[in-house]
Amino acid sequence: MIDAKKRIEELTLQLQDYNYNYYVLDNSLITDFEFDTLLKELQDLEEKYPEFASENSPTKRVGGEVTKKFEQVIHKYPMLSLSNSYSKEDIIDFETRIKKLTNDEIEYVCELKYDGVAIGIQYVNGVFHQAVTRGDGTKGENVSTNVKTIKTIPLKLRGDFPKDFEIRGEIFFPLENFERLNKSREENDEPLYANPRNTASGTLKSLDSSIAAKRGLDCYLYGIYGDNIEIDNHYELVKKAKDWGFKIPLEENNYIKKTSSIEGILEFIDYWAEERKNLPFEIDGVVIKVNHYDNQNRLGYTAKSPRWAIAYKFKAERVSTILEKITYQVGRTGAITPVANLTPVQLGGTTVKRASLHNADIIEKLEVREGDTIFVEKGGEIIPKIVGIDFDKRPTNSIPFQYITNCPECNAPLERQEGEANHYCVNENGCATQIKGKIQHFIARKAMNIDGLGTETIVVLYDNGLIKNISDLYSLHYDELIGLDRMAEKSVNNMLDGIETSKKIPFEKVLFALGIRFVGDTVAKKLARNFKTIDNIISASFESLIEVDEIGDRIAQSLINFFAKQENQLIVEKLKQKDLKFEVEEVEGATNTLEGMIFVVSGVFNQFSRDELKKSIDKNGGKVSSSISSKTSYLVAGDNMGPAKLKKAEKLEVKIISEEEYIKLIK
Ligand code: IVH
Repeated sequence: MIDAKKRIEELTLQLQDYNYNYYVLDNSLITDFEFDTLLKELQDLEEKYPEFASENSPTKRVGGEVTKKFEQVIHKYPMLSLSNSYSKEDIIDFETRIKKLTNDEIEYVCELKYDGVAIGIQYVNGVFHQAVTRGDGTKGENVSTNVKTIKTIPLKLRGDFPKDFEIRGEIFFPLENFERLNKSREENDEPLYANPRNTASGTLKSLDSSIAAKRGLDCYLYGIYGDNIEIDNHYELVKKAKDWGFKIPLEENNYIKKTSSIEGILEFIDYWAEERKNLPFEIDGVVIKVNHYDNQNRLGYTAKSPRWAIAYKFKAERVSTILEKITYQVGRTGAITPVANLTPVQLGGTTVKRASLHNADIIEKLEVREGDTIFVEKGGEIIPKIVGIDFDKRPTNSIPFQYITNCPECNAPLERQEGEANHYCVNENGCATQIKGKIQHFIARKAMNIDGLGTETIVVLYDNGLIKNISDLYSLHYDELIGLDRMAEKSVNNMLDGIETSKKIPFEKVLFALGIRFVGDTVAKKLARNFKTIDNIISASFESLIEVDEIGDRIAQSLINFFAKQENQLIVEKLKQKDLKFEVEEVEGATNTLEGMIFVVSGVFNQFSRDELKKSIDKNGGKVSSSISSKTSYLVAGDNMGPAKLKKAEKLEVKIISEEEYIKLIK
């Protein structure tokens, strides 16, 4: 008895803390499976010993607390949660229970369980009114400004929609956009985001809505709430919402399915347990709902979730192995990344030998030590992640892990600026690994794009003392190259040709190639457009730098620090002498009228050839893309345009303009 009381108190506190971390701080300390196991234990104990259950037990609550940044809104219909299950037996039990309770032939709707952030959006007279997060289930935050940036969420409805209703769904980060975001963060030497779900949530809660707009969130909708709705079942109503303009899961790709049998349900589960790897977004399970509203009402609700629905959650694949050693990687900008070297283990079809530990904070939070037995998971995520430690297996002679204080490559002291996650090696122009990394970045495709020169060759050239920095590439001679490891006549000539050709690369790419911390390709383009020459950038003040759109304090300071170093100015000077481009080449008549716009061109035109039209877009600062997506600003439509493009543009609500309208646009 005493033990039960103690355990209930313990579990209550523990789960409240996990909830707070998860909902308020966006920080998952344990996996969903572990959380649900603990919650189930608490539920069982409370059922047996109701006298010990607390008023604020996590079993009675729906979620966490609400952060203060946005206006709080009380939900007209509470935003409940779903009861979770991890086995098919649970699903079979659910179905049997439903049948027993209703005594009826029951229809079920199977849906995907999108792994994102729940949102409730109200529409009044067909117009977007407000979008509110789940919060604690009773009240959430008004995040309309961010939600309005999601292109698939209509601001104005079409067709015969109800006068006043709320639609609920899940906002998520499409994997392609998430990877793009992380790639650009990597290029700018910023810490990477761990997973799409948390990043979607963080994005939705950022106060500056331009961040959300840029990142490309998306949303599927899965439930409609209102007082005067005539349709009597979930499936038909959701399908109907598609006519009003919402992004609704399609039966064509099996995202939603109606069935009357347990076999039908289990088939859906099996299909998605396998197929989920091929989806362009993450799901963490499937949801089974009773279709007809009269049946739903008969079944009713518990304090926390509806009795007419259940979630089947996929288990993230997880294995345990030994962390043999923590080593460190030094990036081209000196950023240090700790890496866990593991006893190789099979996980999700691949052998995992290494996993990033990201930074010193993560190591501290995990409390991990060399020699520990650790758990590695690969959920929907591609990158293996260390999710915890088996403390029972910690060797008795284990010692707390100490983060390094000096660079593992050059021994210079490491520095960590306030507010930054990473340690940096400060020996920018003396640390061999950094230098090689910088030269490798310089020759990369997105930078100087030097054909005939690869990352391996850079190592050979550096180790043989032929290059010490990027400018030395332009002083290489045939005689000193021939005969080096794997350097025959043809490869030497190719390399020298590639280096010579790279002198024609435009200024914005040269600027990116310099490898200045936080100056990725987009920032380089912005700087080049605004300042025109490298000399203007070098002499620009902090104030004039941050005046440029999207150049913040951090980038400005990084530029100032970079050019304050004599060595860096010297390198630029040498590259100038070798005739690299350090000025924007003014194209006659160029403007930035179309800056930030993406065009797709299709059909035949009267005043331009298709190529001329594309050149004109480029000259005016716009971008041309070959395929229509939700990011497309305009489709310029000529005669005989392909019907597929037209249909897609209409579906994604991309503006379609004629050649004449385009001309007006650039004028
Ligand atoms: S229905 C009354 N359908 O899962 C239950 N939820 O644990 C209303 N979710 O908060 C939810 N996909 O964020 C429903 N197809 C789907 C879902 C879904 C993801 C999320 C949603 C909800 C949580 C419940």
